[in-house]
Amino acid sequence: MEASFWHQRWEQGNIGFHEGQTNPLLANHYKKLNLEKGSCLFLPLCGKTRDIAWLLAGGYRVVGAELSELAIHELFSELGIEPKISKSGKLVHYTATDIDIFVGDFFDLSVENLGLIDAIYDRAALVALPTNKRKQYTTHLINLSNAAPQLLITYEYDQHGMDGPPFSVTEAEIKHHYAPNYQVQIVERVNITGGLKGAVVANEIAWVLQKANG
Ligand SMILES: C[S@@+](CC[C@H](N)C(=O)[O-])C[C@H]1O[C@@H](n2cnc3c(N)ncnc32)[C@H](O)[C@@H]1O
Repeated sequence: MEASFWHQRWEQGNIGFHEGQTNPLLANHYKKLNLEKGSCLFLPLCGKTRDIAWLLAGGYRVVGAELSELAIHELFSELGIEPKISKSGKLVHYTATDIDIFVGDFFDLSVENLGLIDAIYDRAALVALPTNKRKQYTTHLINLSNAAPQLLITYEYDQHGMDGPPFSVTEAEIKHHYAPNYQVQIVERVNITGGLKGAVVANEIAWVLQKANG
């Protein structure tokens, strides 16, 4: 997916991936990350997810990365928060109490931008990327976070039945990317009622990834 694909989706309001409410798999499983209040979660490719409001209300700090500045304007507007905005290398940094969002290409994000984070919450980020980008994504994420624990939400369906995004990512592929650094565990698998986009039978899968030596 080129950047223009996502910019266009945001400009046209074609954001079927955006959920109006907290993702139930986040609410069901975030405790497995064993985070103290005040811990910092990183949300790569965060869009304007409502999950950010839920995490902030729960007493967590949030760092996000998102390509679309429009998405981040809408995020802060819907949160009712006025951010401070500054340049940070190739990225634009939106910041307010307990929230930092870096606008630009995830692959331009550095450890210096991000700072220390305690955990990762990936919903619709890995699965938003085509096969040939996913290794680069998982490698960058591990390097940025020093393999911080993750709650990861993916989809599994017959890729012949529908084009991504979201893409189907198999268990074998998740293990290929993450098993060298993490203990990888499926914690819930939900059949999507009515199918994914009403087009294919699909499961939404929640994974907990704990540091292999942690
Ligand atoms: C499928 S959406 C998911 C958004 C969010 N995680 C959610 O659950 O609503 C994928 C998001 O990734 C953003 N994105 C795609 N490629 C990106 C990149 N290289 N760097 C940063 N964000 C990117 C898109 O603009 C889009 O908002």
